[in-house]
This record gives sequence, structure tokens and C-alpha cells, in this order.
Amino acid sequence: MNALQRVGGLIALLTVCSFLAIVLYTRKNEYTAYKELGVNHQDIYGSLNEEVDRLTKLLAAERQKLERVRIEVEEYVKLRNNAATRRDTTWSKPIGVLVFVCNRADAIRVHLEKLIKYRKNPTAFPIIVSQDCDNDAVANVVTSFGDQVQYIKHVSGEKANITIPANQHQYTSYFRIARHYKLGLDHVFNKLGVDSVIITEDDLDIAPDFFDYFAGTRWLLDADASLFCVSAWNDNGKAAVIDTTAATKLYRSDFFPGLGWMFTKSFWDELAPKWPKGFWDDWLRDPAQRKGRSCIRPEISRTAMTQFGQKGASQGLFFNQYLKKIMLNTDPVNFTNLDLQSLTKSNYDTAFVDVVYGLPNVTINDAIAKTLKSEERGSTYRIEYGNMTQYTEVARKLKIMFDTKAGVPRTAYKGIVTAFINGVRLYAAPTLPWMGYDVTWEPPTVIEADS
Ligand SMILES: *[C@@H]1O[C@H](CO)[C@@H](O)[C@H](O)[C@H]1NC(C)=O
Ligand SMILES: *[C@@H]1O[C@H](CO)[C@@H](O)[C@H](O)[C@H]1NC(C)=O
Ligand SMILES: *[C@@H]1O[C@H](CO)[C@@H](O)[C@H](O)[C@H]1NC(C)=O
Ligand SMILES: *[C@@H]1O[C@H](CO)[C@@H](O)[C@H](O)[C@H]1NC(C)=O
Repeated sequence: MNALQRVGGLIALLTVCSFLAIVLYTRKNEYTAYKELGVNHQDIYGSLNEEVDRLTKLLAAERQKLERVRIEVEEYVKLRNNAATRRDTTWSKPIGVLVFVCNRADAIRVHLEKLIKYRKNPTAFPIIVSQDCDNDAVANVVTSFGDQVQYIKHVSGEKANITIPANQHQYTSYFRIARHYKLGLDHVFNKLGVDSVIITEDDLDIAPDFFDYFAGTRWLLDADASLFCVSAWNDNGKAAVIDTTAATKLYRSDFFPGLGWMFTKSFWDELAPKWPKGFWDDWLRDPAQRKGRSCIRPEISRTAMTQFGQKGASQGLFFNQYLKKIMLNTDPVNFTNLDLQSLTKSNYDTAFVDVVYGLPNVTINDAIAKTLKSEERGSTYRIEYGNMTQYTEVARKLKIMFDTKAGVPRTAYKGIVTAFINGVRLYAAPTLPWMGYDVTWEPPTVIEADS
């Protein structure tokens, strides 16, 4: 850009100099001619003075022109750079929306109605419903949407040859789900040939900006190899512990949230050959699969559980105490217009860590006390924890989820978990130096009731 500016400036300067040179040369010849004719020097001096005035004005005008050229070049460079950013950050290829269903006809009807309502561009987001159970009511609902959705049915029941390991028959549904994911994902990536997919489930509600969220963040998965997914879900997304006005706020997370999430074909190519027979989500969170990579997640969820979720594979208790309380965003954000460069690892890591460890360090009890004082609104603190027992205590007191998977607390990034309570932003952060997640940490199995 400097080169362009310099060239522009140089051309303008050369123009002015040549102009002056020509004028002076002409004047010199005139002067010589006058001298030869014996004309009075005073007259020549007077006319030269006028000429100098005229030239000074001309020069000022030329300077102004030069300044205008400089501004124009600057604006052009700015525009060109913006265009480059836009090209990099917008997404034009179709993103498949893969919906897994089994036997809940009411759930899938509500879910598809929502998807179609908020999907402005069917070509950009082809919806594929994948069913593995023999259920005609579901099949009828799905086909009733006509060409708005594609429908794929897999062999099910006895014929599906799902082998459940001995002693694990109580987990049969998890084995069915893992098999179903493999079939559905192979179908969209390898048969339909899309290069990215959003996975949803029939018991999920979606926010009005669900599609803009994924369209606006898709480029990050290509730009940043340390990301493997974008999720619409905040595990700690209860209204009481988030900033309900921060609709544009996004984070990196080492915890895989699932529940409305996007990933790419290249990630699927990596996972497919070793896809597990059951418990795929915990398998994905294992360091052998995650490989230190992260997801993007929002402050305010773009998915939430519908009442149908209660009867899903997740336990009813867990549903009532946590899942159903996750708030769904209602204030649409056009993420395709936001500058999300700050979320790439190189931009985010130092900024995030520096901010958190630069904050005043308080104990969990002091932090809770601060959330009860109105004059603390708008302030931000760090609460340090030295081990996972301490983390559990902090999380319990903040009323956020305290369980971990593969040693990673829910929503944690570099061990840091945030909550926003009564206008006070808090970060639970590990004491430095941080040694990484302790995969041997066994979270407490009993989830206590919270208010
Ligand atoms: C199930 O196993 C039978 C017998 O081995 C085989 O013929 C059939 O193709 C298998 N079905 C599927 C869906 O893999
Ligand atoms: C979001 O912004 C893009 C680019 O300006 C535009 O094409 C799109 O229509 C906008 N979407 C909404 C919902 O305003
Ligand atoms: C932060 O406070 C805790 C006690 O609450 C203490 O153990 C820790 O060393 C402090 N951290 C720093 C960096 O001072
Ligand atoms: C965690 O840290 C606390 C405070 O330093 C200590 O009392 C406790 O024994 C530690 N727990 C474990 C499991 O290391």
C-alpha cells in the first residue's frame, strides 16, 4: 500500500516540478529577450512579482490536488483491504444441516419448522434428515416438507447388526447413536459432497441468528488449524451466569460442547476411520482425538433444549437442573458482518490470558460477596484455583457446571472458566504455571440440585 502511495505522490510531484521548470524556462527566455530589447528592469521586476504570485497560487492549487490524490489512494487501499478481508471471512459454499432423528414425530416437525423459518437461503444450507429407526410417523413428517429437506433412512433394528458389548446393554442407545452418526456423516460428506456440516438433533430449539452464526464463523475453521468446531451451545448458558446483553460475544473453548455444532470434511476424514462404536462425544473429547484443538462457542446459546429433550438419552435429572435452563438468544446478530479475527489462536491467546491474569485476584467467597453489591457492577475479577478440588468448589459456588471430561471443565479455555453474575465478570483461572488439563481427574458423579 505504501508503494502505491509513494508512486502516486511521486507522479504528482514530478508533474509540479516539470510545470515549474517549463514556466521558469519560458520566463528566462522572455527576460533575455526583454534585456536584448533594452526594456526597463523595473517593469520586468514588477511583472516578475506578479508572476511569482500567480505561480505561488498555482503551486498551492497543485498541492491541494496532490493531497486529494493522496486521500483517494488511501481510500482505494482501504477499500481493497476490506474487500480482501471480506473474501477471506465470508462463506459461499453450502453447509449441510444434518438432523438426526429416530422416533419422535412431534419433535422433528417442530425442529424442521424452526430450521426452515430461519433459513433464508436453502442452497447455502441444505437440510438432510437422517433416520435410523423404523418409524413411519417420523418418515411421514419428514417427507411432508417436500423438497425443503432431504431424507435418508438407514437399515435399523435386527438387520443393523449392532453388537452391544456384554454388560453394556443399558447403554444400547449410545451404541445406536454412534452408528447412526457414522452413517449420516458418511452420507453427507461422501455422497452429497459438502465440505462442512452442522449437526442438530430433533430436540433442539434454534435462535433466529443460528444460520448467520455458522455462516459468519465458518472461515475460522479453515483459517485456524487449532479449531475443530464451532458450537452454538454454551454449557454455562443460564441467564443468571451470562451477560444476557452480550449477543455478539464469542469464546474459544477446549471443552467440546456439541448440541448444534459445525465441523469440516477434513476433520471427518480424520475421525471416520477410527469412529467408535459408542459414546462418540466423550471419545471426541479424549486427547487422542481432540489433540489440543478447540471450538468456538457463544456467550448466549444459539440452541436450547425443547421439552422433547427430557426423554432423550440424557438423564432426566441433568435435563431439569442444567440443560433446560440454557437461555436461547433472541437478539439476532449478523455474524457475517462482524470482524472475528480476534478469535484466531494467534490473536486470542495472549490477549485473553493477559487480560485474565492482569485482573485483581480474589477468593471465591470475596467474589460471591462482590456479586451482591450494586457498586461492583461492571467490575471484573479473577478467582484462582490450584487443583480440581478447588475448581469444583469455585464452580459450585458460582452455580456453573463443575463436571469435567478428559480433565477439561465445561467451557474452559486454558483452564479458565468465566461467569457473569449480577453485572460482575468473573474468571476462575488455574494458578500459574499451568501444567495443562489433568485427564486423570474424576469429576464428582452426583450432580447436586442448584437453585
Ligand atoms: C448384517 O449381517 C448380515 C449377516 O452377516 C449381512 O448379510 C447384512 O448385510 C448385515 N447388515 C448390515 C446392515 O450390515
Ligand atoms: C448479513 O450481512 C450480509 C452481508 O452484508 C447480508 O448479505 C445479509 O443479508 C445480512 N443478513 C441479515 C439477516 O441481515
Ligand atoms: C491469588 O490468590 C490466591 C489465594 O486466594 C493465592 O493462592 C494465589 O497465589 C494468588 N495468585 C497470585 C498470582 O498472586
Ligand atoms: C487441593 O488444594 C488444597 C489447598 O491447597 C489442598 O488442601 C488439597 O489437599 C488439594 N487437593 C488435592 C486433591 O490435591
